[in-house]
Amino acid sequence: MSLSLEKLINQKVEKVFSELGLDKKFATVKISDRPDLSDFQCNGALALAKIEKKNPREIATQIASVLQKDSDLAKISVDGPGFLNISVADEYIAKNMQDMSNDEMLGIEKIDTPKTVVLDYGGPNVAKAMHVGHLRSGTIGEAVSRIERFLGNKVISDVHFGDWGTPMGMILSEIINHDGDLSKATTYNVDEITEFYKAANIRCKEDENAKENARIITAKLQDGDEEYRKAWRHIRDISVDAVKANYEALDVNFDLWLGESDAHKASGDVVEMAKQMGLAEMDDGALIMRLEETNKPMPPTILIKRDGGFGYQITDIATIKMRVEDLKAEEIYYFVDQRQSLHFEQVFQSVEKLKFAPDLVMKHYGFGTVNGKDGKPFKTRDGGVMTLENLIKMSKDKVRESIPNPNEVDGYGEKEIEKLVNQVAIAAIKFQDLKNTTSSGYIFDLEDFAKFEGKTGPYIQYAIARINSILRKAEEKNITPNNVIITTADERNLALKIAQLNAAVWRAHNEKEPSIISDYVYTLAQTFSTFYNSSPIMTAESKELMSSRLALAKLVRDILVKLLYLLGIESPEVMLKKA
Ligand code: ARG
Repeated sequence: MSLSLEKLINQKVEKVFSELGLDKKFATVKISDRPDLSDFQCNGALALAKIEKKNPREIATQIASVLQKDSDLAKISVDGPGFLNISVADEYIAKNMQDMSNDEMLGIEKIDTPKTVVLDYGGPNVAKAMHVGHLRSGTIGEAVSRIERFLGNKVISDVHFGDWGTPMGMILSEIINHDGDLSKATTYNVDEITEFYKAANIRCKEDENAKENARIITAKLQDGDEEYRKAWRHIRDISVDAVKANYEALDVNFDLWLGESDAHKASGDVVEMAKQMGLAEMDDGALIMRLEETNKPMPPTILIKRDGGFGYQITDIATIKMRVEDLKAEEIYYFVDQRQSLHFEQVFQSVEKLKFAPDLVMKHYGFGTVNGKDGKPFKTRDGGVMTLENLIKMSKDKVRESIPNPNEVDGYGEKEIEKLVNQVAIAAIKFQDLKNTTSSGYIFDLEDFAKFEGKTGPYIQYAIARINSILRKAEEKNITPNNVIITTADERNLALKIAQLNAAVWRAHNEKEPSIISDYVYTLAQTFSTFYNSSPIMTAESKELMSSRLALAKLVRDILVKLLYLLGIESPEVMLKKA
């Protein structure tokens, strides 16, 4: 394993702190805020001086005078009130590049004590076509899942299918309304079921009785009524199939395809537990558990609804219990629309009150909506909801405009072109989503995100393919990537950018924020482009320089491919572009 440059410098500074009898915890080194002055900086002398009531510049100067003896460091200075500025020797940076190249983790550190982490994302529902609103949960969840796994955590992803609430009773009662009974229920396909659900929605909005009826049917279904269960099983199965196809197209994967229905038994157990702990009380016909108000009013958790059924909250609480008991979850993270944040606050507080998982870490990462240019949730041209299927198709059509037709390029028939179009279209959609911080929404702009320039998925894929082509040409000429040497400012800048990889991935992991990786990917590709414009590879003045620059190029390629993978995006070996 190779350590990142930042960590190596940090260790050096820590060592000096220890030698001088200073508290190591102030030895933290970070990437310099002033790259014109230094590569790294340590501000520890300031904090330390406050505590020890000493002069910060004096402390910093003392540290600097020891660091100056280290030949791995090029320049040490004390600036301002006591900032320690550190610049690294070119040879040391070059060696770090070499170590990263030889490391299969590319110098990214693994997690010391891996945890069992359950990731809850996707959350589609029975009989509802997946739409643009489902994009973020799947895309962000998949990226976090890959990041966590890569760093060594044991990840279990669960789609948590919405298959148990009132909508189930609504569909069943709509079929009964239509057919007189449920005898034909198992013959319907997913489109027909979706139509039933739409009709039920309209009916229940207008008619209180229909709503009540749907609730009663839901409660009976949950209670185990055999006829209802059989029809429901079919509806659930065909919905899962449809949803699976959607996720497959997006390359979003799950270890578990459990649903709300799987938490039914555990829901009963949780209710019992609440009763025994004296936390349950009747309120207006429902069994509830009161919660503490935090900085805002906190509605109670509904344990059993007035109609006798289990609701959304109790289902999530019971699911947590199962994840802890069956899966040994130590951490559970939710990637769900931020409009559900109150729900998760209620759920988490309920779990704390019930005390069945005192050490469990739980967090909801709420995401913002995908909006149209008008700032409102993205719709189709005629005002309908944009299905995921349609969205993918639109993206493919757009990408096809920039890619040659089949048989215009040697070796590219229909099949190969379609594969490429698909890879680029999915990259466009996902990168657009992942370049925005999770909590903010974004404006969905097809024109913009499928471009081959700017901060887009296709641009990164293109950058990778360009390096692939450089590497192929070098191979033909028998030039191999070897021994990095730093000779120009652009080489040095690129190497320092590369050296930030570990920090970027770890920040994304700590904050469960894939956009940190997207940012890094984009700036790395740009820094490479600047380097490549000023520092030719195949026409460099010596063989050593060719090999060195080639090694940097290969390292950048490997990093970009790995990071796109972590974002859930493929990297085609070759990209084609219409002339
Ligand atoms: N099916 C839910 C919905 O459409 C989302 C599920 C989110 N996950 C969870 N564990 N509650 O609103």
